[in-house]
Amino acid sequence: MSVVRVGFIGAGSMANAVHYPSVAELPEAELVAICDLDEGRLNSTADKYGVPKEHRYTDYQRMLERENLDAVYVIMPPNGLTPIVLDCLRAGKHVFIEKPPGCSSDEAWAMAEEAERQKVKTCVGFNRRYAAVYRHAKAKVFEFGTPSLAFAEFHKDMLGQGPYYGMSILRTDIIHAVDILRDLLGEPVEVYAHVWSHYERWQNSHNQFAALIRFDSGAVGILAASRTAGSRYERFEVHGKGISAYIRAPERAEIHRQGSEVEVVTDKQLTGTTDRRITYGYFDETRHFITCILRDEIPLTNFTDAARTMDLVERVERFALP
Ligand SMILES: NC(=O)c1ccc[n+]([C@@H]2O[C@H](COP(=O)([O-])OP(=O)(O)OC[C@H]3O[C@@H](n4cnc5c(N)ncnc54)[C@H](O)[C@@H]3O)[C@@H](O)[C@H]2O)c1
Repeated sequence: MSVVRVGFIGAGSMANAVHYPSVAELPEAELVAICDLDEGRLNSTADKYGVPKEHRYTDYQRMLERENLDAVYVIMPPNGLTPIVLDCLRAGKHVFIEKPPGCSSDEAWAMAEEAERQKVKTCVGFNRRYAAVYRHAKAKVFEFGTPSLAFAEFHKDMLGQGPYYGMSILRTDIIHAVDILRDLLGEPVEVYAHVWSHYERWQNSHNQFAALIRFDSGAVGILAASRTAGSRYERFEVHGKGISAYIRAPERAEIHRQGSEVEVVTDKQLTGTTDRRITYGYFDETRHFITCILRDEIPLTNFTDAARTMDLVERVERFALP
């Protein structure tokens, strides 16, 4: 195989913002078919990417039966995602999904185990891991050894709103920060957390999260997330052997090395652009997924890895106040 034949389930906002343009841009991928329940979105996306009428579907089962696809992007909200993904996996397709990987770790593991049985490649859109400034800073820190301590903060100004999809905001959004702690520090051994509500009560979700996690590497990770904050603010900090990185992905990272000048790197320096589809890792997660299919390699943020992140999310949630 030299070109991966891709079908999409979902022509919504995230898919159109980052996934369709990334697949369309890669010479190693071909956008073959599209499915969406909403015919308006289906047709406008298909028109934009030149997908002929006979390859447009409102029933994904029909698309799977009729089209000769190698991979399927299933880009839709977590509710109702898992059965569709399981059907794609059972049809032998490589599958890319957005975060969160289902509504629970049970769903995440069901998808991961099916993917292992079918021996297909999978990828979850934990895009921060692929962001240029993050990768650069992480590589610098790891040159000198494994980290001892990391912080992941992810705040948003959501006062008066509610959680996405009526679900725990830790699962649907702050999961990105939890995933970064695992990426930097390993697998969790011990978790202590405080999960509570302040200023307002949402249905099915608290709005404040603080956790202290000890990892199997011996390192400790600290998670902090407020959803009644003044603005959206995301920041990672990692300390290693005589070196520390302070990361504001996707824009910049500062690398402090004992005895050296502070190194500042920016998205523009590393990628030549400030387009977040490129700088925030969205293009690179697709390039990585497609490359792994062609080279028979395991994607970094595969379903099994993502299920472990979902497990850690649920371990933090167990500390939720009633
Ligand atoms: N990684 C990130 O930074 C990031 C940012 C935003 C959203 N997301 C994730 O992206 C996912 C999608 O979010 P969105 O805002 O694009 O959603 P959306 O509602 O805009 O789009 C979903 C699309 O899926 C279609 N759909 C739903 N069920 C279907 C079915 N059975 N068959 C065919 N089509 C179906 C809908 O009609 C809709 O067009 C969510 O899981 C969200 O958490 C990730």
